[in-house]
Amino acid sequence: MKLKRVLGWSAIAIPLALLVAAFIAYWTSGNTCDDPNIAAPGNPMQAIVYCDYGSADVLRLENIEKPVPADDQVLVKVRAAAVNPLDWHYMRGTPYIMRIEAGLRKPKDTRMGVDFAGTVEAVGRNVTRFKPGDDVFGGRSGALAEYVTARADRAVVLKPPNLTFEQAAAVPIAAITALQGLRDEGKVQPGQKVLINGASGGVGTFAVQIAKSFGANVTGVCSGRNADLVRSIGADHVIDYTKEDYTQSGEHYDVILDNVANRSLSDNRRVLKSDGKYVLIGGGGPNDQGWIGPLAGPVKTLFLSPFVSQDMGMLLAELNKEDLTILSDLMQAGKVTPVIDRRYRLSEVPAAIRYLEEGRARGKVVITLE
Ligand SMILES: NC(=O)c1ccc[n+]([C@@H]2O[C@H](COP(=O)([O-])OP(=O)(O)OC[C@H]3O[C@@H](n4cnc5c(N)ncnc54)[C@H](OP(=O)(O)O)[C@@H]3O)[C@@H](O)[C@H]2O)c1
Repeated sequence: MKLKRVLGWSAIAIPLALLVAAFIAYWTSGNTCDDPNIAAPGNPMQAIVYCDYGSADVLRLENIEKPVPADDQVLVKVRAAAVNPLDWHYMRGTPYIMRIEAGLRKPKDTRMGVDFAGTVEAVGRNVTRFKPGDDVFGGRSGALAEYVTARADRAVVLKPPNLTFEQAAAVPIAAITALQGLRDEGKVQPGQKVLINGASGGVGTFAVQIAKSFGANVTGVCSGRNADLVRSIGADHVIDYTKEDYTQSGEHYDVILDNVANRSLSDNRRVLKSDGKYVLIGGGGPNDQGWIGPLAGPVKTLFLSPFVSQDMGMLLAELNKEDLTILSDLMQAGKVTPVIDRRYRLSEVPAAIRYLEEGRARGKVVITLE
């Protein structure tokens, strides 16, 4: 009787306590914008900052303190940066599940951007890989700024001399995603038939070229207006999705790299060889996110994969210097050339993000700081 009463009270008290804890965590979560003691920057630089989640209207170009490199860091004068869908995910805090890490009510980190290219201005005393004057590119949060610091042993490498800063800045997230998707998940081999859904976007334009460099026979799916672009970067076949559904083509592919996720897994399986590999990269615009957004696809692939002969997987790309070096070599060899769609200035980042959110970018959208 006593146990029953304890269980009964617990059933009410535990969810109530969790609710109160979530409520407190939500209302106490904040960021440096709430701090009235922050002094005016003594040595200022311009950076894109946001204090609250929302549309691109929340982004501000502000003067903040110029960073000083720690012992294991380099200080880079940013000459160009690039924007990615990742940036508008952080800006909007969607899908909402990501706020567990990014900040429940407001963004914990008020800085924006990841991809950058620039010149090393100073190095920490333990840094031997780089010296002032080196031109580099890489990925580091807070890259939409005049300066960024990055750990010298992380995702930063020398810029190939044959690339402009804008081209180099276009590379990190999009090209690493394409490389890891095709090589690590897709395990693409020479002669294999590879389909890239969303071949004209940031990831897609790198994926077409990287798959060709692996010796694959590449089919790119894009709209008619981008067909010539996708052919020009090496695709052997192009499917105009406004006229033809690739999942009804009757073809069978060894690997599908899916940057759009606009077809069901069973539709994709229909055009995958019996031992083929489906690699989900992402998909969906700002209005499709909700609570778990693109994570619904990976959950389904996880459940489906053990029951079918094909390998249904997803990729969560990871920035690292080894893969940046591989990409650097491919670009020096002329096998991969970044495709740049539009250029914006640092003050125009809100416009750049708005354009990216439309989902119509043809290659990469870059920010020029020179
Ligand atoms: N998993 C990861 O680690 C990872 C890493 C990077 C990116 N991502 C995700 O991957 C996705 C793609 O990223 P991105 O940088 O390539 O985006 P993006 O540059 O914004 O992609 C825009 C491109 O998508 C094309 N597109 C739109 N609807 C299409 C459709 N129905 N069929 C074929 N193409 C279509 C557009 O071509 P049209 O104008 O011709 O339609 C446009 O060229 C995003 O969802 C991003 O969040 C995931």
